[in-house]
Amino acid sequence: MSRPIVHLVGARPNFMKAAPVVRACRALRIPQRLVHTGQHYSETMSDVFFRELELPEPDLNLGVGSGSHAVQTAATMTALERALPGLEPALLVLYGDVNSTLAGALVAAKLGMPIAHVEAGLRSFDRSMPEEINRIVVDILADLLFVTSPEAIPNLEREGVHVDRIHFVGNPMIDTLMQLRANFDAEAARRRYGLPDRYGVVTLHRPSNVDSTESARAAVDAIAAVTSRLPLIIPLHPRGRATLEAAGLTNRPGLSIVDPMGYVDFMSLVSGAALVITDSGGIQEETTILRVPCLTLRPNTERPITITNGTNRLVTVDSLLDAAAAVLSGTTVAAPDPPPLWDGHAGDRIGSIFGEWLATRA
Ligand code: UD1
Repeated sequence: MSRPIVHLVGARPNFMKAAPVVRACRALRIPQRLVHTGQHYSETMSDVFFRELELPEPDLNLGVGSGSHAVQTAATMTALERALPGLEPALLVLYGDVNSTLAGALVAAKLGMPIAHVEAGLRSFDRSMPEEINRIVVDILADLLFVTSPEAIPNLEREGVHVDRIHFVGNPMIDTLMQLRANFDAEAARRRYGLPDRYGVVTLHRPSNVDSTESARAAVDAIAAVTSRLPLIIPLHPRGRATLEAAGLTNRPGLSIVDPMGYVDFMSLVSGAALVITDSGGIQEETTILRVPCLTLRPNTERPITITNGTNRLVTVDSLLDAAAAVLSGTTVAAPDPPPLWDGHAGDRIGSIFGEWLATRA
């Protein structure tokens, strides 16, 4: 058998991006293996996504778990350096911008293995964000760069990436959304969580919002103020749970706190929401396609196309309430055209490019 493509995944947002690429490789009969770093390991952060997205059981789980950035990245690198040579990858495929992605790029580059990066070239231009550092390093080391959005191409060129390595393929996270959209049941999800017809969904887990007591308190107060206009539900990511609860998140009237959800449950709730308030990257993209207004509680975004071609707006704790009121009164207008190539076929395009790339190397 020829040498396989090895997909490396580790954290929740990786799974939605990898599933369509794995499926496309299977359809093209490209030999492949799946390695899970174990950065996310629990039922609600990992297992449920493997089942719902029909990802195959990983060939290998490195079981690295949680830790500080250095501890987590180093543990992943150490385990990968041992495991990767045995898999004899023709190409290591990395997704997104999490610590597992960074560790994979550093190890493969030093072992002389070719690297593909899915979701290359996104930039917030804010290096206080750990993901921005991961993106820059991974893109500089990658051989094949798959871009979800046109502005990523000049971002990469400015950093010295040659245009021959860049492929604009669209957004595989949107492939997953389109594939499973028929299973989203907003009404059933709303009832299950005891929500009225009109409600909003909140997610909050960025270190900048949840790691310090002051920022957590400011975020909690701003979100609680919105409940005077709209009942909200917040599936709480384990990061920041303690800080947000200490900042008074619990016992706010009109705000339901629930555990993290699987993909279909969460997207069902989002698809029926009047408003989403988030600091996630992927949710900015998903609301853009679902046409649900999204207020992103961050000073910047690496996904500006969700503003120019979507439903996203950046807000601060001070502007959130007015922005929410504008959305709810219908005065906020969403951009008419969705981002180009967010059409459900990004995984197929990536698979075809892998096929051509492997053929030139055979
Ligand atoms: C990581 C990504 C972030 C992404 C997020 C999605 C990095 C640098 N950050 O952040 O870009 O938006 O995933 O969720 O890689 N935990 C559990 N169960 C799990 C996994 C984690 O309870 O299965 C808890 C642990 O207490 C852990 C904390 O969540 O310390 C944070 O996990 P970690 O992987 O360090 O980063 P995330 O905040 O999840």
